Amino acid sequence: MFERGRNLFNIEKNSEFAIRVLVLSIPTAVVFVMLVLLELISPMSAIISYASVIIFNVLLLFPITFEMQQIKRYITKLSTGEDVNGKAMTLSEKDAKEIVSAINAMHSFWAHKTDILEAQTISDTAVLDTLPDPIMMIDRAGNILGANLSARTFLGKNITDKNIDRVFDSNSFMEAVSRVLKKESASENLIFYVKKPVDQKLYAHIKQLPWLSKGRAVAVISLYDLTKAIKIEKMQSDFVANASHELRTPLSIISGFIETLQTSAKDDEAARESFLKIMAEQAEYMSALIENLLSLSRIEMEQDQKPEGEADVVKLAEEVQQALSLKAEAREIGIKVKNDEDIPMINADERQIKQIIQNLTDNAIKYGVSKSDVTIKISTAESIPPSKSYKVRSGPAVAIAINNKGPKITPENLARLTERFYRMQEHKDLNIKGTGLGLSIAKQIILRHRGNLTVTSNSYNGTTFTIYLPQEI
Ligand SMILES: Nc1ncnc2c1ncn2[C@@H]1O[C@H](COP(=O)(O)OP(=O)(O)OP(=O)(O)O)[C@@H](O)[C@H]1O
Ligand SMILES: [Mg+2]
Repeated sequence: MFERGRNLFNIEKNSEFAIRVLVLSIPTAVVFVMLVLLELISPMSAIISYASVIIFNVLLLFPITFEMQQIKRYITKLSTGEDVNGKAMTLSEKDAKEIVSAINAMHSFWAHKTDILEAQTISDTAVLDTLPDPIMMIDRAGNILGANLSARTFLGKNITDKNIDRVFDSNSFMEAVSRVLKKESASENLIFYVKKPVDQKLYAHIKQLPWLSKGRAVAVISLYDLTKAIKIEKMQSDFVANASHELRTPLSIISGFIETLQTSAKDDEAARESFLKIMAEQAEYMSALIENLLSLSRIEMEQDQKPEGEADVVKLAEEVQQALSLKAEAREIGIKVKNDEDIPMINADERQIKQIIQNLTDNAIKYGVSKSDVTIKISTAESIPPSKSYKVRSGPAVAIAINNKGPKITPENLARLTERFYRMQEHKDLNIKGTGLGLSIAKQIILRHRGNLTVTSNSYNGTTFTIYLPQEI
């Protein structure tokens, strides 16, 4: 509160108040001296009159000077961000009141602007943090002023305030940064390699910021990790190489036999019979391979589409049991379907779920010991076992466990079973036919359904593949 009485003596000591009063009284003093010199008034009455003029000036100037100082103190407080209440000030002068209300309007305007800017900065930071690629801002000396979440995760929490040359051990990258900082170029793009924190191939885009100002961010660096893209490219080219190799082998066997049948074995009845049998087997393998390759590419195309429809897993298992019964009988294997009561319908693509149950049951018949049982057990599970894949859901699921008796699969083999074209050597040696794609197809379908596949294997219980499918996707 403004308290005139208490602040009466608050006028600052260094104020020029007294000087101002004296200066203002000089013309009056000159007039009084002249009047005394012309003997129009006595010196005593001149002194008394002059003193009253000074008192009058003090009374006139005091309120203005006092209020000006109040305003000065008020502005100083505002400029230092102190919490003030200007409206509580009681000013007597009209002009002073107008000045204070103008200052208050200006203050509220800037306070509002600051709030908007602060909100914008917070939302800009949140947006930058959601970007998957690292982004950093640097000053003219190359010090990192800010980094988004991805950059902090990739390069360490404490990268801000470090110089960029301490973070990246690449000369070509540092030269590009320096060209932008020296304004020799507005932006630079380059591919470079780093050894720290891990061996990586990175793409960098370095760009001058338009609002250059001394001591502030002058350039922005965005990075893109090319290592992942290279890995995917390699996987794709490996896949094409593997697929062509797998197709070339039966094709060359078939063409070899055709040539033999046309030449040396032309009239050999017995050889023709056995060659035709091998050729039919190879043709069958080729068609299974092509079928699986088409199936895989179809599944990959649908990978990000949510499965439509509902599936009755028990009904599907019984259909598979029926379809594979002849194949199982040939190895004297019985297929048993066991299920808990009240297995719920699941949100799934029925055709694809039947395909995975069929692929796994087919494996159990092929690789299980003959004269034993293959069991398909369907139950409900409270949750899906966790996986490294972000796609896998948690929550209630239906579990389909397919078991066959047989020797324990080694951990090295277990880890590779779902790789495309991977087949265990012992099964190749036993001449058990297969393309090596059945499990990778199953894995893709299960992932599309946000489910998980687990395998356990020991010499006592044999091998169990368990498919977990969420009840709701
Ligand atoms: N139940 C199982 N017991 C033992 N080994 C298995 C079992 N299931 C799969 N394997 C091994 O995993 C490999 C890959 O299986 P996958 O189903 O992907 O291919 P495949 O059966 O060889 O070919 P396809 O499924 O096209 O007929 C098999 O070749 C086999 O070595
Ligand atoms: Mg298989």
